Amino acid sequence: MTDTTTTDSASPAPSRRALIGWGGAGLALGAAAAGGAVAIARPHDDTESAQAATGGAVAFHGAHQAGIATAVQDRLHFAAFDVKTTERAALVQMLKDWTEAARRMTAGRAVGEGAFGGLAEAPPDDTGEALGLKPSRLTLTIGFGPSFFEKFGLADKRPDALVDLPHFPGDNLEKSRSGGDLCVQACADDPQVAVHAIRNLARIGFGKVAVRWSQLGFGKTSSTTPDAQTPRNLFGFKDGTSNIAGTETDRLKKFVWADDGDGSDWMAGGSYLVARRIRMNIETWDRTSLQEQEDVFGRDKGEGAPAGKAKEHDKPFLKAMKPTAHVRLAHPEANDGITILRRGYSFTDGTDGLGRLDAGLFFLAYQRDPRKGFIPLQRRLAASDALNEYIQHVGSAVFAIPPGVRDQNDWWGRTLLTEEA
Ligand code: HEM
Repeated sequence: MTDTTTTDSASPAPSRRALIGWGGAGLALGAAAAGGAVAIARPHDDTESAQAATGGAVAFHGAHQAGIATAVQDRLHFAAFDVKTTERAALVQMLKDWTEAARRMTAGRAVGEGAFGGLAEAPPDDTGEALGLKPSRLTLTIGFGPSFFEKFGLADKRPDALVDLPHFPGDNLEKSRSGGDLCVQACADDPQVAVHAIRNLARIGFGKVAVRWSQLGFGKTSSTTPDAQTPRNLFGFKDGTSNIAGTETDRLKKFVWADDGDGSDWMAGGSYLVARRIRMNIETWDRTSLQEQEDVFGRDKGEGAPAGKAKEHDKPFLKAMKPTAHVRLAHPEANDGITILRRGYSFTDGTDGLGRLDAGLFFLAYQRDPRKGFIPLQRRLAASDALNEYIQHVGSAVFAIPPGVRDQNDWWGRTLLTEEA
């Protein structure tokens, strides 16, 4: 089963305004489907770029949550939340409300009764800034952090794989940019659509959850569509060359999706997300010679080819790279096959107060088990990576990403929070 239903490239996506015009808030996604605007598509194929161009919709329902194997969108708004309510029923109701809002927003529709036209005495259901914008391949992906399981008597449901990340050498983590009971990753090709989505979820959650930290991202630094041009990170290098593609069902099953045999039945079809805010010292990097830059990664800057090879997708010969080269240390062959799905974004958030840009990579990695993915990899990189001279990890969080919402009656977290589940 694919997790991405995308708008048929031949049928441009309806805009939020158009949907409102067609009968407003009461119309379900089915109405669009009936009108022929929505068709099942493969997770990624030739139509992906056309879908991006037409601002299409990615299906919200599926065995896995969208936003993981989905072709990476251009923009990110990521938010971590603290749970404030102590009432389980209130939290469950909020998750149901979030799910319904997510279902609508990912289809390009306004929340609830919309941004206008309702009761003049009450605030509108939707904040309005996405009116007239297309779905823009918006995906919303929810996760539960380790601290969530300390609440509502859920300790015995905490998956063994959801470990607290250890301290790694060089970590300089800020508490205000780390952790969180819940997270929502919003990815879209239009930044306003992603921001609108997080804002409206935060608004719906008012009094029950509070935003702990959030991160905007641009210029995706990885690709799950190898045929497409590989994006570049803020060091100017192609990033995401060697990644799991959204079409590689076998590798996704092996390395990304949790299985019911993995120990937590409620997580079957889910995944684990490690988020790291990595500051990049771009000013230092920009004064570094090209040779040194290429040696740091073990790939050349122009083509992105591995050291000693001609083309980006040539198989790396690790011994041709410096022993401390990032790719040599991170490559599966050097790590007993360890493979993660990277889905990070660049950021610049003003200055650091010392005359430098607060810029970097918001690193997002999905895997079946962080104990067999990010943790051993990062131990290795933290110990020896030549890149460490130019980067610093300043934020960190880990989340259990539950399976997909199956249908109209399902909701985010049901397999975890339904008593009999
Ligand atoms: C600011 C920090 C980082 C930067 C700028 C960066 C950049 C890069 C670049 C340019 C590549 C080569 C192209 C590619 O295959 O994607 C790469 C590969 C890779 N990176 Fe990073 N990276 C960073 C942090 C990390 C971290 C924290 C991890 C994991 C703990 C990681 C894991 C990997 C892996 C697994 C590969 C692919 C290696 C291969 O299969 O050849 N990277 N990275």
